[in-house]
Amino acid sequence: MAPIKSVAIIGAGASGAITASALAAEQYFDRIRVFERRETAGGTWIYDPDPGRPFKFSPGNLPPDVDAPSQIPSSLPISIPHLEKERYEKTPIYESLTTNVPDIAMSYSDLPFAYGPFVPHWVPKQYIENYFSSHRTDRYLVTNTTVEEVVKLKDDHADYSPGWRLTLRRFNDVTQLDEWWQEDFDAVVLANGHYSVPYVPHVTGLEGYMTKYPGRVMHSKQFRSAPDFKQKRVIIIGNSASGQDLTTALVREAALPLWQSRRSPGRWDGDNPPPGVEWKPIIKEYLPSGDIIFVDGTVIKSDEVDKIIYCTGYKPSFPFWNAQRNGGQIYDYGESRLVGTYIHTFFRDHPTLAIIGLPRVLTFRSMEYQAIAVARVWSGRSSLPSTEEQISWEQNRDVLTKRERRKFHDITWDNGETLEYLQAFFNIAGLPTLAGAGRYPPVLDAETRWAIQNIKKYPEPGRKADEDGYVIVGSNEVKDSLHFI
Ligand SMILES: Cc1cc2nc3c(=O)[nH]c(=O)nc-3n(C[C@H](O)[C@H](O)[C@H](O)COP(=O)(O)OP(=O)(O)OC[C@H]3O[C@@H](n4cnc5c(N)ncnc54)[C@H](O)[C@@H]3O)c2cc1C
Ligand SMILES: NC(=O)c1ccc[n+]([C@@H]2O[C@H](COP(=O)([O-])OP(=O)(O)OC[C@H]3O[C@@H](n4cnc5c(N)ncnc54)[C@H](OP(=O)(O)O)[C@@H]3O)[C@@H](O)[C@H]2O)c1
Repeated sequence: MAPIKSVAIIGAGASGAITASALAAEQYFDRIRVFERRETAGGTWIYDPDPGRPFKFSPGNLPPDVDAPSQIPSSLPISIPHLEKERYEKTPIYESLTTNVPDIAMSYSDLPFAYGPFVPHWVPKQYIENYFSSHRTDRYLVTNTTVEEVVKLKDDHADYSPGWRLTLRRFNDVTQLDEWWQEDFDAVVLANGHYSVPYVPHVTGLEGYMTKYPGRVMHSKQFRSAPDFKQKRVIIIGNSASGQDLTTALVREAALPLWQSRRSPGRWDGDNPPPGVEWKPIIKEYLPSGDIIFVDGTVIKSDEVDKIIYCTGYKPSFPFWNAQRNGGQIYDYGESRLVGTYIHTFFRDHPTLAIIGLPRVLTFRSMEYQAIAVARVWSGRSSLPSTEEQISWEQNRDVLTKRERRKFHDITWDNGETLEYLQAFFNIAGLPTLAGAGRYPPVLDAETRWAIQNIKKYPEPGRKADEDGYVIVGSNEVKDSLHFI
């Protein structure tokens, strides 16, 4: 592989922040650029009081359809009228949202959060912005700039073999035009997050229901504040972090009962719903009459409901990835996983491409391990195991997660999988590889591990949170420590 001297990072959220810092610390790369479509760093944690136009839902449809690639102008650079296209840039943060991972584990190892353990959404936002400036990586930031296309250059490209060409778009507020241009890099890091494009499952009759009752169905991404639902009759669909949080917030404002449709029981659910909440199973069908039929045969009539909020999560989206010119897709929606990766980070077929922050695991802290490993490998100070070993990792992961009916990129805490995962980065970038400049992966110390296992934001069944909104549980109590991530 030719030396990597220039790196583009797509996204200035938590993943982009740590990647920029890890690359800079190597003192090896000539050019680092962080392209961010928003006006500032912060990613998910930027709060948009205005959630934007209601989405046009396509129940069951996936990002390749709902977040399709943009048409690239045939000649570049160029300034042309602004592209009016739903790109899901606004974030899902709502007014009352607080973090759900204790600060000691959510922050990077070299800079603590302002306070903890669970903080309002503006704290991580300020933290990420400050992380760029305190590491002087803010000079790499290129904001208000969307990466519209990533194309692999041909191997015979004179200077950058076998690098990447990025097509970029920036709205110019003065001219009110979009400026399009291209830049080439030796390597690219995808730090574009995966909680932008909302997912609403297919349910028989849902399309027709939305046409019949415009504005009645929404996604949690557009929820901002519980008082907006004062005395409204609401059905919440979903029972993970968003479903739980919205149920807790709305039960104080909405008309009662507040219905919550759950496909699976939640970790924090007791045997009975909290006062004011009525549990429902999943919806079987929306009838043309407007009545909603649940799989247990119960019905909510059309005139009994004002709002239905789908808290059914998000799907990763890579609209900038030109699969045709890059030799295939990087994400398989059928399998819900990246194609050809090693430890959820490196791509076997694209050694100069990496992705940070995709697995559902310890968020910020594990991104730190990923970013450092990428920086060490790309600066030539370390290397990956053989291709055979990488293939075997992927195959074993596939077999294991299928056998246990888990998602490929969900890494659990309580069975030791997270520590095993972090160990893999340690093997790549840990002490034995220390040479020259650069960061090395931190130790996940006893205090951090204790916090992960013992400080809980969500009330344990039968247990009340203290006045700061969290509980400390004993080490021998049921853990399921990062189930909500
Ligand atoms: C509602 C909600 C609450 C959460 N709460 C917690 C929590 O309490 N604790 C926790 O640890 N985690 C939480 N998370 C997970 C959170 O997403 C991660 O903590 C983390 O912020 C992800 O960082 P990221 O940089 O990978 O992605 P993001 O924060 O999504 O950042 C990606 C960035 O890439 C930019 N981008 C995307 N595409 C392009 C493009 N084509 N061109 C240019 N820029 C682009 C985006 O604008 C964005 O700024 C929560 C997530 C959600 C949705
Ligand atoms: N800081 C906070 O307090 C906070 C608040 C909200 C969100 N978050 C974070 O935001 C991220 C996304 O969380 P999320 O809750 O929005 O999404 P999520 O964790 O992906 O959960 C999706 C929910 O939708 C349900 N679901 C999916 N497909 C369904 C279908 N076809 N029919 C019925 N139900 C279906 C799932 O049920 P199953 O469980 O059966 O799969 C699950 O309950 C997470 O990282 C989370 O930690 C954090």
